[in-house]
Amino acid sequence: MTQAGIVVAASGTGRSLSYLIEKKSLLYRVSGVISSNKAAKANQIAEKYNLPLFIDSFNSKSTTASPNLLLWLKRLKPQWLVLAGFIKPMPTIFSGLEYLSSRIINIHPSLLPKFGGKNMFGLNVHKSVITAKDSVTGASIHYVNEKYDDGRIISQITCPVKPDDCPESLAKRVFQCERKIYPRTIEDLIKGILPLKDKQIYIYNENKKL
Ligand code: GAR
Repeated sequence: MTQAGIVVAASGTGRSLSYLIEKKSLLYRVSGVISSNKAAKANQIAEKYNLPLFIDSFNSKSTTASPNLLLWLKRLKPQWLVLAGFIKPMPTIFSGLEYLSSRIINIHPSLLPKFGGKNMFGLNVHKSVITAKDSVTGASIHYVNEKYDDGRIISQITCPVKPDDCPESLAKRVFQCERKIYPRTIEDLIKGILPLKDKQIYIYNENKKL
């Protein structure tokens, strides 16, 4: 089976980009990186792995991809567009690559629809979970539409919130779950096992080796 090319979009540390590459999946390969920030550490990771890198501020309010982004994507023809710590709105209309609109996914560090939406990223999410006194949190993978953290949820994984957790300790636990389910969900989408029918959400087991 040939590997599906995926383009990963990042804005920050690139920790997620790293684990997606390091998975060495037989089903996908990262074929390019989109960055919304000239100074993002993710750019260095793209360079380290010799991956084509597209940098833009993504400040346009338009939901249509810019001509430059379209040109770049047309060369790579990715099967999936995978957001990983990308904090700008991603265009969802790709003229000439229409299939891509329904193949944009993102990961969020909570059990959506809880603790999602604008400004819900990084430690803000985990602070809110602790303030709400929830005993369970997790991560969600969802399709991307024009609203933040709003598209159909594909899969989730849960993990406990411990009584002595601070936002940082919780973030660490959730991130360990994220690195398990993101590559796995991408593979399951490629295999056609996901998404489930009737908008059901697939729940991965935190304790099972994925
Ligand atoms: C991840 O924790 C991801 O869930 C979160 O950004 C982090 C990845 O960034 N995404 C969101 O909050 C989306 N709303 P990194 O790879 O730069 O560390």
